[in-house]
Amino acid sequence: MKKLKWTSLFSLLLALSLILAACSSNGEDGSSGDEGENKSDGEKVTIVYASGQDATKGTEKVIEAFEKEHPNIKVEFREMPSDTGAQHNAYVTALNGKSSEIDVLDLDVIWPAEFAQAGYVMPLDRFIKKDKIDMDTYNEGAVSAANFEGRQWAMPKYIDAGMLFYRKDMVEEPPKTWDELMTKAGELQGQDGTKFGYLMQGKQYEGLVCNAVEFIASYGGAIVNENGEVVIDSEESIKGLTKMVEIANSEIVPENITNFTEPESHTSFIEGESPFIRNWPYQYALANDEEQSKIVDKVGVAPLPEGDAGTAAALGGWMTAISAYSEHPEEAWEFMKFMTGPEGQKIQAIHGGKAPTISSLYEDEEVLEANPFFKEEGFVNALESAVSRPVVANYPEISEIIQIEVSKAIAGQSTPEEAAKAMQSKIESAMK
Ligand code: GLC
Repeated sequence: MKKLKWTSLFSLLLALSLILAACSSNGEDGSSGDEGENKSDGEKVTIVYASGQDATKGTEKVIEAFEKEHPNIKVEFREMPSDTGAQHNAYVTALNGKSSEIDVLDLDVIWPAEFAQAGYVMPLDRFIKKDKIDMDTYNEGAVSAANFEGRQWAMPKYIDAGMLFYRKDMVEEPPKTWDELMTKAGELQGQDGTKFGYLMQGKQYEGLVCNAVEFIASYGGAIVNENGEVVIDSEESIKGLTKMVEIANSEIVPENITNFTEPESHTSFIEGESPFIRNWPYQYALANDEEQSKIVDKVGVAPLPEGDAGTAAALGGWMTAISAYSEHPEEAWEFMKFMTGPEGQKIQAIHGGKAPTISSLYEDEEVLEANPFFKEEGFVNALESAVSRPVVANYPEISEIIQIEVSKAIAGQSTPEEAAKAMQSKIESAMK
């Protein structure tokens, strides 16, 4: 056998060491191999943070504050579609292709199991341990939503619960029931420059599922029960769906309500076009943003109207994760640690109206001054008893079934009874 020349031996070794370095930078535990890799020489590292469109100033302010404290890390914001389903698909496409373009990304509360199982995001346990993050300071439900097979895949950033926002200057006492809402909205519609009586999210997308969950649960129905059994074909669920179909087809909502997601509805509300809207907590900060809103200081918050069984809010919220393909996991962690930590969450609560996942922030004076309803019983109860969507790795499949069947019922192509029956059998087979 011919002897290897020194030069070729050298290039072989170099190639080998490069391969080893590449392997270790995407270690199983999310370690980058060399902790100081990107910052030891004081060089500025740019990380890309992807998240859905933020109509409030929350994201902008949190990035600004982070960069000020970390002059060596620049955060480039990549705005993703605000429709969570479209955002989901954009991430799945990028991460399926093992793209390293995104470092940090926000995950809707319904995705962590799927993203963890697909290997799209890094387990964070090593970072949490290294920086001694006390997970007990976080809302338990939010932490467990991102815990899959014993590991933590994302950090809770904020919690969402569906609420009723109303015009304090037009409404003395917010309506208690869906029927009262319909009557009140009908009376006020057209007054004080309003065009509509009520705004909700009626498009065929994830937000429709949240609206449906609220109607169904307010009449005592559910999609799955605590044992994971599909129970949507019930008298209670049918009552909830019936009320939803009635409202979505009534005169109080815009005629094209089936095109409405959050941005369409919040824009109409801050333009002063409706006395009532169902939306998430950020609506409050947005309605009080002088640069965008025509209804500053005119908004009150109440629990969503009751059905037979009481009021019910869908549980929503967002988490932050590190892409498994990030080339800067250490810097990515620094940023997400800040954003989901007490300082970052405080900024987002004040400027973005986001409900913190860190319990102590509900006692913070500045947070409460910006969001006075955070201390109200109705809000605290809504957060505590908010109804989750099914927690399964193939959630998108379940969601699509609900979106299609509820849309058909709203369009009059099926009755609420038929919709409930169809969802029952289709979700059952999807969950098998
Ligand atoms: C909000 C919620 C999220 C939900 C989405 C639906 O962003 O936080 O959980 O899926 O709305 O539009």
